[in-house]
Amino acid sequence: MDAVITACRAALSRPGAVIVLTGAGVSAESGIPTFRGKEGYWTIGSTEYHPQELATQRAFARMPWDVWAWYLYRRGVCRAAAPNPAHAAIVAWDAALGERFALVTQNVDGLHRRAGSPDARMHEIHGDIDLMRCARECTAARLPIPEAVPAIARGEVVPDAIRAQLRCPSCGEMARPHVLWFDEAYDEPRYHLNTVRALAARAALVVVGGTSAQTNLPWQVVSLAARGGAAIVDINVEDNPFGEIAADSAGVIRAPAGEALPALVHALV
Ligand code: OAD
Repeated sequence: MDAVITACRAALSRPGAVIVLTGAGVSAESGIPTFRGKEGYWTIGSTEYHPQELATQRAFARMPWDVWAWYLYRRGVCRAAAPNPAHAAIVAWDAALGERFALVTQNVDGLHRRAGSPDARMHEIHGDIDLMRCARECTAARLPIPEAVPAIARGEVVPDAIRAQLRCPSCGEMARPHVLWFDEAYDEPRYHLNTVRALAARAALVVVGGTSAQTNLPWQVVSLAARGGAAIVDINVEDNPFGEIAADSAGVIRAPAGEALPALVHALV
């Protein structure tokens, strides 16, 4: 930890953005299952699906209400969870650094926002599980999923009265969750692709927390930042590909994010 703190201080003394890049591990201590952990599976009929099969345009086209059931279940889990000390530490660092700070998150659970991270400096690159949009994209508008839409239990079918609320108010067609699916591409209007790439290219320091490094834009963030000379830190309970990059840079912290992030931020602010 001491070596990481020293390397971070050196990076902070140089000009450039400070980016915290988070994944599901940062919400694990809030009780939200990680994406690739065992609890991520979902059964429809007699078939057990992996999130990577369900979080697709292909699955939604074939069985939209089963996909909606999965998202409404997960939305319920997210809404019942509370931010943990990792989220709070990120808010404290944002407040200390102001304009220089950016949060890039793969998490769709809304916990960063609920902890107090300001929208202006937060980039939800995989969307927000509490929002929906027209599945036909008749407008770009994102709408909150109506408050009256309840959580779905495992195995429960989405009732007709709820289906009627999951519609686009403009054209009446079915709505879809506002999340990035595996067979879709990042873009700027919905997922801040260009903004995040530009931030990474001028970063002085990137602290990565709780991600298994399986998705494309996080890879671009770490690669662009490292290429530009930024210091990279990896916080995770397990080894992962970003850890290998961080090991050759500012270092690795193998500890839960809810402990490591508050300790790091406390030492640096
Ligand atoms: P994963 O479930 O793939 O990985 C979670 C990571 O968190 C793993 O590396 C764990 O070791 C680590 N972890 C678990 N508990 C932790 C803790 N308490 N403290 C620190 N680390 C911990 O989740 P992501 O990497 O976020 O995207 O997955 C990225 C994306 O994969 C998701 O956003 C989702 C999926 O594709 C889309 O849906 C587009």
